[in-house]
Amino acid sequence: MRTTVFLPGDLDVCSIAMAGSFCEARLVIQTLEWTESGVRLLDQTKLPVEESYVTCKSYQEVAEGIRNMVVRGAPAIGVAAAMGIALGLKNSSAARLADLARDFDQICEAMGKTRPTAVNLFWAIRRMREKFDELRSNSLPDIKHALVEEAQRMYTEDIAANQALGRQGATLMPARGGVLTHCNAGALATCGYGTALGVIRAAVAQGKALHVYADETRPFLQGSRLTAWELMKDGIPTTVISDNMAGALMHQGKIGAIVVGADRIAANGDVANKIGTYTVAVLAHEHRIPFYVAAPVSTIDLETPEGSSIPIEQRNAREVTHLGGQQLVPDGVAVENLAFDVTPAAYVTAIITELGVAHAPYGPSLRSLAEARAAPQP
Ligand code: MRU
Repeated sequence: MRTTVFLPGDLDVCSIAMAGSFCEARLVIQTLEWTESGVRLLDQTKLPVEESYVTCKSYQEVAEGIRNMVVRGAPAIGVAAAMGIALGLKNSSAARLADLARDFDQICEAMGKTRPTAVNLFWAIRRMREKFDELRSNSLPDIKHALVEEAQRMYTEDIAANQALGRQGATLMPARGGVLTHCNAGALATCGYGTALGVIRAAVAQGKALHVYADETRPFLQGSRLTAWELMKDGIPTTVISDNMAGALMHQGKIGAIVVGADRIAANGDVANKIGTYTVAVLAHEHRIPFYVAAPVSTIDLETPEGSSIPIEQRNAREVTHLGGQQLVPDGVAVENLAFDVTPAAYVTAIITELGVAHAPYGPSLRSLAEARAAPQP
């Protein structure tokens, strides 16, 4: 069955997967896409100055694109990896199942080494592996074809999940005024529409008069480069602030709510997200401002009991020491570049997912959401 929905903002017309079938989506922001010649990625390292695309023709190129942040954001990383796996299998010259399985393992291993924190990457690899195992008795061309389909299905499911969580979260947004977000949890971080920005888009579509404050998000500047770029395209009023202004704006009463994405949500509700999120959450608590996390259920990791067990990526020091090729820090100074931090569940007002909104105590509520997601669809 096919359903056509009309969407605000970055999605003009999108046909959504229903009852196991899927279809093409036409997006204004096409973050990533499966094409016959390879996996096409919007190069996010070039935004906002240049809107250009790279087509990865091998799984190694997709892995490199994830590692170098050509494509980034937890859900987008997951689907890019799934497409990379499908591409690697498609290109495999294996003539026997055992050889194809060996290639499959090698491809999955390479994808799993790209970035450690976003659990969507490992969720996607696991889902592709389950599909591969289910098809072992099929012909090699059938296996390859089915894995391409599975990656495409994950793509359309991600857009549908974002739209659904957007609707869930929109009701929690104030009727008007400032909403703060950190990093980019928008169309660019997903297959379309976005998680935190999906909530904002849905609220604006419902007639709420929101003004977005986007933390610039040092050092990679996802807020100023990416969030501002995609909200400008939508005509949603946006003000970029440097990260250290957030507290002052809260104190001035300009922020009515905060909504951010997540890279991994532990079983107890602790949330790993872009570095600086924890600071925002603590400030929100002090100012009694609701702090919402918006993420698909695939970001919930029941196997990780609490935030302290989440692996935190440490990226190259140069991202901190240099900006646009200009050196900012004296030679030889020690530098930390933690890409993510963990916000304890106690600071999280609610977790917005496509299947419902979870509140504290998060243990049971997250478990029931994850189990609902895992249950076979009718
Ligand atoms: O390092 P990045 O740019 O991949 O980090 C992205 C974030 O931290 C996002 O907030 C998170 O992945 C949620 S995206 C819907």
